[in-house]
Amino acid sequence: MPSRTPALAEFSTVILAAGKGTRLRSNQAKVLHRAGGRTLIEHVVRACLPLRAREIIAIVGHQAEAVGNSIAPLGARAILQQPQNGTGHALRVARNKLDRRSKYVLVMPGDAPLIRTETLLRLAHAHLASGAAATILTAMLSEPAGYGRIVRKSDNSVARIVEENAATPEERGIQEVNSSLYAFTLEALWPCLDALRPENVHKELYLTDAIALLNQRGLRVLAEVAGDAHEVLGCNTRAELAEVDRIFRDRKRRDLMDAGVTIYLPETVVVDPDVHVGPDTIIEPCVQLLGNTRIGANCHIHTGSMLTDMTLEDGANVRELCVMASSRLRAGAVVGPFSRLRPGADIGRGARVGNFVEVKKSRLGEGAKAQHLTYLGDATIGPGSNIGAGTITCNYDGVRKNRTSIGSNVFIGSNTALVAPVRVGDRAYVAAGSTITENVPPDALGIARGKQANKPGWAAARRKEMAAAAAPKRAATKRVLGPRRRSKKRGR
Ligand code: UD1
Ligand code: CA
Repeated sequence: MPSRTPALAEFSTVILAAGKGTRLRSNQAKVLHRAGGRTLIEHVVRACLPLRAREIIAIVGHQAEAVGNSIAPLGARAILQQPQNGTGHALRVARNKLDRRSKYVLVMPGDAPLIRTETLLRLAHAHLASGAAATILTAMLSEPAGYGRIVRKSDNSVARIVEENAATPEERGIQEVNSSLYAFTLEALWPCLDALRPENVHKELYLTDAIALLNQRGLRVLAEVAGDAHEVLGCNTRAELAEVDRIFRDRKRRDLMDAGVTIYLPETVVVDPDVHVGPDTIIEPCVQLLGNTRIGANCHIHTGSMLTDMTLEDGANVRELCVMASSRLRAGAVVGPFSRLRPGADIGRGARVGNFVEVKKSRLGEGAKAQHLTYLGDATIGPGSNIGAGTITCNYDGVRKNRTSIGSNVFIGSNTALVAPVRVGDRAYVAAGSTITENVPPDALGIARGKQANKPGWAAARRKEMAAAAAPKRAATKRVLGPRRRSKKRGR
């Protein structure tokens, strides 16, 4: 959307979002369900934002507070509709609450999140250009079931909208459907809303009935057909919700591929809308990139990994089946397979984190390695240091979290427990199997384990002793239990 788009200065935008969404069979309001990584209503509000209309209003009812709170950060305002007596009633409720300087309103459903700003703009401009009292965004659907149908007049303007359950068999054959997205001229709309009657199966006031009422007053209603019928898809059922989610995910993956990202088996890859990925990065099947993840160029995300709010510098490599959140991989770092990065992990340039390694609030310096079976929490590890298999930073003393500080080019032997707070100086060694509770000075060896003693021939003598003790016992057991077991078997 070019930022020079002239603002829709005489328009209010109203999003209908008070309904419960009975067909979803959910305790949650329909517009708070998620597709494509956002709530339905958030998608709709975001599509409205670049229009720079006078205001963005959501009509709320079911879970009004939660819905209102979800859109307030985007600058949209909630108006309560209580009870929810239909789409026409929803707009009536807004009547005295719209900005008085608005001459027009763009009305849209909160449950059709695929709508694009360009399409809203096209509808508004068509409405202004024709001077009609209402302009409806319609779509041609090969399977129009469930939608209101558009009944056109011989001059091609719109006579009325007929809802599915009131339609004749002939009308049901009409493939042009109402998207519930309209531009109205307010002075023409208000008297028609007053004239709505709840004469339908739901005993509600239908906004769709306003179209026939405008015609009765000799006013013209036109329709704009959406170029992409997907844009008007509503999420009335879980199946429709899944379909809309699939379309969002597909859009995002196409955007990434257009920008130079390789994605294999793209239909298995989930990428949230705010994720950035640099060119020549490769994404393998079954990867999820979520939240505010930022991935540089020439990275490789192997199969089955899930990244949430991650930052990856150029050339970082996430191998198979890693789970990581709110952390950073610096250029050329390699993590995985089977690694877990919890918030605050900072993996240095060219550093390596291997299988079954968990890292939390810890910094690994350039080229540092922790390749196997390790927990690093609240730790700083200097460049070039090697953390042996099975190393644990004991960061929690039951009350507080304490830090472990490891200098540069340190060697930590396997199966070491570092009881924090503790420091290991530059170039020091820690012997395998140590429990380190005191600081280790630079260039020193820290060793803290029981001294080994070998007893020659001990094992052989022990084996002999055990064999002698077992021999007579085995013979006795045979005699007592043998016959009975056998008779039991025969009995079966
Ligand atoms: C509506 C239209 C139908 C159109 C379809 C497109 C009517 C009567 N029918 O049907 O012609 O093809 O949308 O998706 O308008 N809402 C309120 N307050 C209410 C009732 C509903 O705010 O009292 C909101 C809902 O939360 C929803 C939107 O209005 O976001 C549409 O309501 P919904 O019940 O989904 O209407 P449809 O049956 O889909
Ligand atoms: Ca709907």
